[in-house]
Amino acid sequence: MDRYCVFGNPIGHSKSPQIHRLFAEQTGQALSYDARLAPLDDFAGNAREFFVEGLGGNVTVPFKEDAYRLATELSERARRAGAVNTLKKLEGGGLLGDNTDGAGLTRDLRVNHGVVLRGARILVLGAGGAVRGILEPFLGQQPACIVIANRTASKAEQLAGEFKDLGDVRGGGFDLRDEPFDLIVNGTSASLAGELPPIDPALIKPGHTVCYDMMYGKDVTAFNRWAAEHGAARCIDGLGMLVEQAAEAFLLWRGVRPDSAPVLEELRRQLKG
Ligand code: ATR
Repeated sequence: MDRYCVFGNPIGHSKSPQIHRLFAEQTGQALSYDARLAPLDDFAGNAREFFVEGLGGNVTVPFKEDAYRLATELSERARRAGAVNTLKKLEGGGLLGDNTDGAGLTRDLRVNHGVVLRGARILVLGAGGAVRGILEPFLGQQPACIVIANRTASKAEQLAGEFKDLGDVRGGGFDLRDEPFDLIVNGTSASLAGELPPIDPALIKPGHTVCYDMMYGKDVTAFNRWAAEHGAARCIDGLGMLVEQAAEAFLLWRGVRPDSAPVLEELRRQLKG
């Protein structure tokens, strides 16, 4: 049986094994997919051991940078992200490092929610690893501009500078004054602390702006609640991004794109239940 896995620490909460087993069932692909608790100080050793037999792996917190270093080849989006969430064994034993997070988010927005990114004014909140991973795929959609706002303004400015060859990207603090945006994406980890990025609600145009929180949970996230209170046309959480990044990885490994809709529906049902 072809073997795949997800590496993480902790890993018990991961939904990836269930998602990939559902994809495999749906597409009639014979494969196994397990969760692997890699030691914090030896991701590389653990991954090498797995890849003696294994064909592909996903990588989650805190190993995405380690996986980037382990890969012998990188996709352009992984190189830009500085992080790898998907590894694929190559003929000859090398390891391809890819990053499907941004493509997953982009696909969730465009395909599942019909959001047009071309020509859009996009505000991205946060300047950490999660945001770095989405900038290349977003810019590939040719938005009018991307503004990155972060608690530590200098980090946003630096990140914007690294991507400015790909489009109109600017960075700054949360105190930005600007026209309302078409799309606002929360990529900060503020919700984990039950906090909100303190941005001006006038950046939402009531009935027009789409808000997207890369986090998800049983209940509506703090950011999406705030967005709804200020009239956002739609408030979307990151569960679709999770399923779509997995679908992109499955496509890379197996050459078949699974139908994400029934899997997303099942996960949503479980999350609510
Ligand atoms: P991740 O991989 O989830 O992006 P990270 O690289 O540690 O994690 O980045 C966390 C992001 O959330 C950063 O942009 C961080 O802001 P700083 O760069 O100023 O630290 C942001 N963040 C974390 N807690 C926050 C909070 N309570 N309010 C606003 N932003 C927060």
